[in-house]
Amino acid sequence: MKKLFIETYGCQMNVADSEVVASILSNEYEITEEERTADLVLINTCSVRDNAEQRIHKRLRELGAIKKRRPGMMIGLLGCMAERLKDQLLKDEPALDFVAGPDAYRSVPNLIEKALSGEDAYNVTLSKEETYDNIMPLRYAANGVSGFISIMRGCDNFCSYCVVPFTRGRERSRSPQTILAEAKQLLADGYKEVTLLGQNVNSYHYEKEGKVTTFADLMEMVALLSPQLRVRFATSHPKDISDELIHVIAKYPNICKFIHLPVQAGSTSMLQRMHRVYTREQYLERIATIKRVIPECSIATDIIAGFCGETEEEHQATLSLMREVGYASAYMFKYSVRDNTYAATHFPDDIPEELKTRRLEEIIALQQQLSLESNQQDVGKTFEVLVEGTSKRSDEQLFGRTSQNKVAIFPRGNHQKGEYVHVKILSCTAATLIGEVVGE
Ligand code: SAH
Ligand code: SF4
Ligand code: F3S
Repeated sequence: MKKLFIETYGCQMNVADSEVVASILSNEYEITEEERTADLVLINTCSVRDNAEQRIHKRLRELGAIKKRRPGMMIGLLGCMAERLKDQLLKDEPALDFVAGPDAYRSVPNLIEKALSGEDAYNVTLSKEETYDNIMPLRYAANGVSGFISIMRGCDNFCSYCVVPFTRGRERSRSPQTILAEAKQLLADGYKEVTLLGQNVNSYHYEKEGKVTTFADLMEMVALLSPQLRVRFATSHPKDISDELIHVIAKYPNICKFIHLPVQAGSTSMLQRMHRVYTREQYLERIATIKRVIPECSIATDIIAGFCGETEEEHQATLSLMREVGYASAYMFKYSVRDNTYAATHFPDDIPEELKTRRLEEIIALQQQLSLESNQQDVGKTFEVLVEGTSKRSDEQLFGRTSQNKVAIFPRGNHQKGEYVHVKILSCTAATLIGEVVGE
């Protein structure tokens, strides 16, 4: 067997895709964790912000140096950057042998053949149907406890700042049968948690012979597989997180009480420029409903600082919304122009870099405080924690997650990865709950 090294950047969907590619190549290649001995190195890339792409260019230069010493080694570039930059990448990056976009992974074996025979090897064709439905991912990177299943691909939302609809193509959903089969396989392999993935899982929609499956239906079907299998999902768009879904989350103890609901900005005027199609008030109404129906639910978000035309008032509205929701955690970014998006072609990127930085710092500092407050509310309470492994800080400590997606660390005792334990929280930082196992 030849050796394959895969490096994955970007979102969880890329992690799931890398597992699909590893499966497609598994007849000829086995995974290695050592890039220096690999026959084939694959880089699965992200285009969401410019700095994500710059990192990859840097990495390709490093790999180019390794390749010089090992001329037999091949390097392929996958994912969103492949789709965005296409065959230009082969011209700009001499280290690359081939390029495959997100819907072209079945052709990777052919691309390898083509590259070996010295031809230009790239396939960046987007598809309206491809979901890699019948490919059981090779879960080489998973920890054996928690796995991902892509339930849909693409995005039709065209938020004005975002490159994803261009790199991932049109939205399409996989059949519930193949999703359930994959979840059952995870259970059979001893997994205890599954995350259903899509850019906008709420618009999951599968129709066959007149029977429609919605995302709420799908969640229910997966939750019913086993009370021992936790179910998570990412990401939801606020415009269509339905009451039905909120009630399904509340109903099943094994559906995790955690919702990642990216808001992006706190003012209706900014949300309009971003083409997010909800107002501040509508977003807050969804949050109020979540809090009413699932009081123990924790909520996380994504925020962009310094989007085109952002006034100080709009920035303050983002901060006040963050306080009002009391997010448990957030991913926070500076706006980065992406070519061809609506914002790039219609609005000037007019917030100076220093101002973007200052606003982002304010957002991060506030979130740090909100995360700490959210964790402090958990001190004294007991949570069911799924053990994921040994804590990075100490061999004596294990770590796992609560249903609310918070990391908890606690003394090892006789416990092991993959077990459910009850942990009483004794103290916390903004990032971690610290506790001890109780009830044994
Ligand atoms: N589908 C998800 C998010 C996918 S991209 C959603 O709609 O919520 C992940 C995050 O990257 C986004 O939520 C957004 O906060 C951020 N992002 C996307 N494009 C960006 C850009 N051009 N500049 C800065 N951040 C961006
Ligand atoms: Fe991008 Fe918006 Fe689609 Fe999310 S919903 S991937 S932010 S276009
Ligand atoms: Fe990045 Fe593509 Fe995911 S741009 S965030 S890897 S969909």
